[in-house]
Amino acid sequence: MDIGIDKINFFTSNLYVDMTELAIARNEDPDKYLIGIGQSKMAVIPPTQDIVTMGANAAESMLTDEDKEDIDLVIVGTESGIDNSKSAAAYIADLLGLRDDIRTFEIKQACYGATAALQMAKAQVTLNPDSKALIIGADIAKYGLNTPGEVTQGGGAVAMLVSANPKLLSFEGGSTYLSRNIMDFWRPLGHSEALVDGKYSSNVYLDFFNNVYSNYKDKTGFTIDNFEALLFHLPYTKMGLKALREAQKDADAKVSAKLAHRFEDSRLYNRQVGNLYTGSLYLSLLSLLENNDDLKSGDRLGLFSYGSGAQGEFFAMLLRKDYRKYLMNTTNEFLQKRTCISVEEYEKIYLKSLHYENNSELDLDMDDAQFVLTGIKENQRQYKNRI
Ligand code: CAA
Repeated sequence: MDIGIDKINFFTSNLYVDMTELAIARNEDPDKYLIGIGQSKMAVIPPTQDIVTMGANAAESMLTDEDKEDIDLVIVGTESGIDNSKSAAAYIADLLGLRDDIRTFEIKQACYGATAALQMAKAQVTLNPDSKALIIGADIAKYGLNTPGEVTQGGGAVAMLVSANPKLLSFEGGSTYLSRNIMDFWRPLGHSEALVDGKYSSNVYLDFFNNVYSNYKDKTGFTIDNFEALLFHLPYTKMGLKALREAQKDADAKVSAKLAHRFEDSRLYNRQVGNLYTGSLYLSLLSLLENNDDLKSGDRLGLFSYGSGAQGEFFAMLLRKDYRKYLMNTTNEFLQKRTCISVEEYEKIYLKSLHYENNSELDLDMDDAQFVLTGIKENQRQYKNRI
């Protein structure tokens, strides 16, 4: 029985800052951000959006009433939790109007959380082929104003529906993993912004990729020629390019060019959004699916997931028959319709979103999303469905 991703959708806020303007404001050469880091726009998440609202917004527009009836598991992978106890999944299931005889929980291992969730969903659907699982990777990446990490901020949510006989992609075989206790990137309790050893984290990312990718090839007997595309966790898109270059060392010129061309398709969306931690690999997957025109059903994609701290995993998925027919293809237009704000406005929004006051009401004027956070009352977050 084939199990995999039946539907996938993305949501981010309607605001972004242009990376050329940010570079100028930070006295950097714009090409450092545009080429050296590989980012052109950065999503700015207002206080009225969090992992709950972004996750619900991503899921709502892709789910039919029938899907909602069939979902019996909701897992949110995140490292931007809004509560130390209650899961974002419990809020999201309620906002979406799902059944209540289901399981909802949240999972954490830095940017790896959505992959852990996806693999759990695979196991669950294997045991219960009639059920469907809703997997959400949602985060807001915050390093701080005027830090080296600032250019790699961003945010958003990817929602995926996992089912038997999926329309888009099916899992193939198992995975290879690597887990090591290291301090490359972390966010201690009480900190709103991540702490990071930037250069070290980028080196460790490559070590993890080389390890799990090479173990995967040993385990399966595959070579680079067996992959039609390689997808990477993209904290910034140049990071994925560096990992691709590691893999290309074994490829002939033709295969290398094919993988490079497909990598460009797979980083188009991430380039315009920035890092969304858990969702980044899956936004890159969506970018490839919606922007590529030369892949075909049966083609094998290799996926590398990385979460600092650190966990790496490599696995493969196969494109399903007629998968293009079932894509929503709404992301390009959605990203084009956003509003560009100035660096000053971004800084104001950023500072405001670092601290939510109890018994406050938030200004919804700049946010046109269906699900919004309206404020906090008696330490309880107040969510609203505007439809
Ligand atoms: N034109 C073109 N390129 C230029 C340039 C110019 N004018 N000026 C500089 N560059 C290039 C540099 O040569 C460099 O390229 P290489 O990496 O290929 O050498 C690139 O731009 C970046 O320049 P610096 O190394 O000087 O950048 P920096 O010191 O300011 O920091 C960073 C870069 C370490 C990635 C920093 O942004 C950071 O700490 N980011 C957050 C951490 C991160 O994303 N780590 C990734 C791995 S961890 C992970 O994946 C988990 C996660 O999601 C966080």
